[in-house]
Amino acid sequence: MSKPVPEEIDQARSEHAELSKQLHHHNYLYHSLDRPEISDAQYDRLLQRLLQLEEAFPALISPDSPSQRIGSTPLDGFPPATHARPMLSLDNRFPYKKNENDEFIVDEKELRDFDDQIKRFLSTDESIEYLCEMKLDGVAVALTYENGLLVRGATRGDGTTGEEITQNVRTIGAIPLRLQGEYPTQLEVRGEIYMELEGFRRLNRQRREEGETSFANPRNVTAGSLRQLDPKLTAGRPLTISCYGIGKISGSAPESHYQLLESLRRWGLKANLETVRVAGDIEEVIARYNELLELRDRLPYEIDGMVVKVNSRNLQQELGEKSRSPRWAIACKFPPRQEQTVLESVRYQVGRTGAITPVANLRPVNVSGVTVSSASLHNWEEITRLGIRIGDTVVVERAGDVIPDIVKILTEKRDGSEQEIPEPTVCPACGSPVIRETGEVVPRCQGLSCPAQLKESLKHFCTRNAMDIEGLGDRQIDQLLRLKLIKSVADLYRLTREDLFQFDRMGDKLADKLLTAIEASKQRPLERFLFGLGIRHVGSHLAKVLSRQFGSLAALATADAEQLLTIHEIGPQVANSVTRFFADPNNRLILGQLKDFGVAPVATGQPHGDKLSGKVFVFTGALERFSRKQGEALIEAQGGRASGSVSKKTDYVVAGPAAGSKLAKAEQLGIRILNEEEFLALIEQGG
Ligand code: IVH
Repeated sequence: MSKPVPEEIDQARSEHAELSKQLHHHNYLYHSLDRPEISDAQYDRLLQRLLQLEEAFPALISPDSPSQRIGSTPLDGFPPATHARPMLSLDNRFPYKKNENDEFIVDEKELRDFDDQIKRFLSTDESIEYLCEMKLDGVAVALTYENGLLVRGATRGDGTTGEEITQNVRTIGAIPLRLQGEYPTQLEVRGEIYMELEGFRRLNRQRREEGETSFANPRNVTAGSLRQLDPKLTAGRPLTISCYGIGKISGSAPESHYQLLESLRRWGLKANLETVRVAGDIEEVIARYNELLELRDRLPYEIDGMVVKVNSRNLQQELGEKSRSPRWAIACKFPPRQEQTVLESVRYQVGRTGAITPVANLRPVNVSGVTVSSASLHNWEEITRLGIRIGDTVVVERAGDVIPDIVKILTEKRDGSEQEIPEPTVCPACGSPVIRETGEVVPRCQGLSCPAQLKESLKHFCTRNAMDIEGLGDRQIDQLLRLKLIKSVADLYRLTREDLFQFDRMGDKLADKLLTAIEASKQRPLERFLFGLGIRHVGSHLAKVLSRQFGSLAALATADAEQLLTIHEIGPQVANSVTRFFADPNNRLILGQLKDFGVAPVATGQPHGDKLSGKVFVFTGALERFSRKQGEALIEAQGGRASGSVSKKTDYVVAGPAAGSKLAKAEQLGIRILNEEEFLALIEQGG
């Protein structure tokens, strides 16, 4: 192309400016006001023309050009982003309880207590005006606008420092790249990025058509989408935002929180004013909570509660904040969803130890926007406890993203055709006999070469907490087995590029990546290797204990029960299982092969405390101050242990937001419940 003449540049500039204006306007109408005036095709034509101009005249590309929404070049990572003011969290209230029929009912006292607290703090008897907002279930972000231009988007992180995700945030249509009207020169807006249910379902449909696994829930995909290194992938995800507050603002701020939301809307930001209610007193708050409970099934997005805020910003200031959350706002969580459906049949899953778990095939039912079609029945004790039969109408409950639970059956709906759930006598995978030993709640397959067991143990060996072989997931392991390329974990280290090329959809790059991952796994620490072996009763915690005590695989493999029993935390059952494992000739053969292939796990010792020695913790809910892994590490560093389920043996339950059935169970059993802060304090004091 010949060099453009100045007139051409001027013309392009003015056309580009006009197109930008139009595109911004239509984008705003569509994403923020939900009132589009042109069709998608028309929008696309305008955008294509703008892109054409930018290609011919790259100088026209500005940070707020509508072209920035398509996603720029991939990034290497997300730099840390420190917040001007900490991003606080909210204290949770659970204004509900179960009645004698196991149904949830509203517990108004929880809400009145909050009101009392506020009045006490402010030394007033007068009614407080509150604002009731929906608590959207997504990912919190802080958006910084300087002179109206979006300059930074950041995640919450630990509240002080998050990750900078500006490029990804720019791709979200509902986030203005430039503010409108009389905006403040400096503004940091806070809001929740989320995905509507329709978009979520569409995405999952697409995934299934492409042979990929479905996403669990809209919140997970939202979080995942925002952490894509390639902004083009984020651009393809139907994300949106609801702005609910500010971090900082220049000039004077509005007097009430409601007015603040109105201002945000005037500046072109999306604030869900239509769903917000100003409540004159706590009674009106209670009424709104009830209303939202009714409404939540008909909303196009998931909410997990209602946020109550003191409306006056002056009073907010007077009330101030605690270390992690403001005193002037709370999150009132909703009870887990319950729906009725029918138990159509039962299938049996064979685990890596041969344990056979009954799984309920349910008539698909929509529970808070997610289709539920199966639930674990856990074991035969549970089946007896529930008294459940095939054909029964059941109540299922889903809290957060946890696997649904069958809470009860509705015996009044029986018509006599219901059938007992048979206990299998042969393994559904290999046909070998199954045996349920006395004291055991599940039967076990006795087959030595049961393919289901092999598959599960291979999967376990490769998981992140074990040998962490990335790229060897469910599908790949299936193929390895189908192609008869592998009969034990040792065979993994025998695989060649030629072997891998027999896979569906396997290219040079992917094959190399897999081989590199397999090679790298040879150097994993001993504790992970031990965990990966899947020795019965040896979970990741005991694997650590064994690795630390014995220091090498050879030492452990030759230890006898007596030696093992000298270790605190190891009882006869574990000792037995470990010695049996290493005595088994087949296992010895495989361990020998692994050694020959260069799998050389070494013990990594860590200095340890013992202040929480023997204490068992269970985490539940969405933790906000630390990840589950970090929490577990903190406990283990003090000699304690984290477990996945609540029982009489649990010492503490650490509950984050959206905690459901585990929390309820802990309450029932009278177990000490800690919030995240109390947990951290406990760790500091050491029990
Ligand atoms: S206000 C200082 N309002 O809930 C107050 N938060 O547990 C900070 N959330 O991290 C939050 N909807 O991600 C507020 N209407 C709403 C909200 C909301 C969802 C999320 C937010 C926050 C978490 C607090």
